Amino acid sequence: MIFTASEKLQKLSSSIFQEVANRKQEAMNKGKDVIDLSVGSPDFPPPPFVIDTLLTYTKDPKNYGYTLKGIPEFHEAVTYFYKQRYSVHLDAKKEVLQLMGSQDGLAHLATAMINPGDYVLVPDPGYPIYEGSVTIAGGSIYPMPLRSENRFLPKLEEIPEEIIQKTKMMILSYPGNPVTAIADECFFEEVVAFAKRHQILVVHDFAYSELIYDGHPQISFLSVPGAKEVGIEFNSLSKTFNMAGCRIGYAVGNEHVISILASFKSHIDYGVFYPIQKAASKALTSDFDYLKGQVKEYERRRDVLVEGLRKSGWEVEKSPATMFVWAKIPQGWTSRQFAFELIDRAGVAVIPGDAFGKQGEGYVRIALVQPTKTLQEAAERIQAFLANCSIHNK
Ligand SMILES: Cc1ncc(COP(=O)(O)O)c(C=O)c1O
Repeated sequence: MIFTASEKLQKLSSSIFQEVANRKQEAMNKGKDVIDLSVGSPDFPPPPFVIDTLLTYTKDPKNYGYTLKGIPEFHEAVTYFYKQRYSVHLDAKKEVLQLMGSQDGLAHLATAMINPGDYVLVPDPGYPIYEGSVTIAGGSIYPMPLRSENRFLPKLEEIPEEIIQKTKMMILSYPGNPVTAIADECFFEEVVAFAKRHQILVVHDFAYSELIYDGHPQISFLSVPGAKEVGIEFNSLSKTFNMAGCRIGYAVGNEHVISILASFKSHIDYGVFYPIQKAASKALTSDFDYLKGQVKEYERRRDVLVEGLRKSGWEVEKSPATMFVWAKIPQGWTSRQFAFELIDRAGVAVIPGDAFGKQGEGYVRIALVQPTKTLQEAAERIQAFLANCSIHNK
């Protein structure tokens, strides 16, 4: 018997990521050494106090039952963290919802909120689940182009009136993936006014809230006046505390939307493992020196890679945030051609920008998930590859 996936599933495209993985494997099978800068999974360990807390609580057999939802300690810890880090006041009982990673919330929110016929404004390029979640929900997307000349902020005034009338939700992410730009308060104020005017729910993905460099401010969408009336924000411990496999995240903000998402989730899962909740609570209320050290290390990695690439004449921008470099590729290639040539000829795997939407064409995303020495080596391999190309092109 042949079973087929649903039409909804077939519409979710993950093909480029798979193609990169296959291409990398093929190169390795032929004996090529490939430095993998494609997947955005942190290589840093969680802080020792996270591991210690997990160890303590996993030893107690009483901690293996369903938790159903976030424990009060976790909700309080999120509230503390948001106050300390972003000067945002939250009601721990009504304005915080625990998730199995922010992906859990991002993937399910549209199903909880969107009906067929509703439009969702999504960034292009954007993190793939934004579009995927709307597809699953049966809604329609309107991609908002993020262009370098607009500091990668969408031009709200360019969204057609007939689309706005059908729009129920808008997704933003600053700093985001793959676009590493950060937004300022003015932009968020503009978004709040736009959302109020058109009755649109704003969803801000702030998964990289603690990977912001060069002293730039960390601006939560919820810190802007009126934001809680129109929106929610997703956040996570995956990147901040390197707990990506230890699934835990949260949504904060508008209490009605939080309760709708909570109601949806009560149908589909039974809560996060108690020891993980305890470890996350500990992390969110820890001293924040750990975060400072991590930011310094990512800055170092970014500098080594970008400066190395610039030596080859490739003018790559330094990311102000996140664990990625969003690099405009040299002329004469498509994103895919360039990414595949990098695997085959330079032995470096990156993701072609069009994996994240039409506007990603002309870019590649490079993940800073290797130590500086390896990034240096990757930059040198790319330098040699580009030098070779320019000789052949002469
Ligand atoms: C922009 C963005 N949002 C959300 C996520 C999901 O992270 P998690 O589910 O681990 O919190 C990721 C993961 O890479 C991401 O890049």
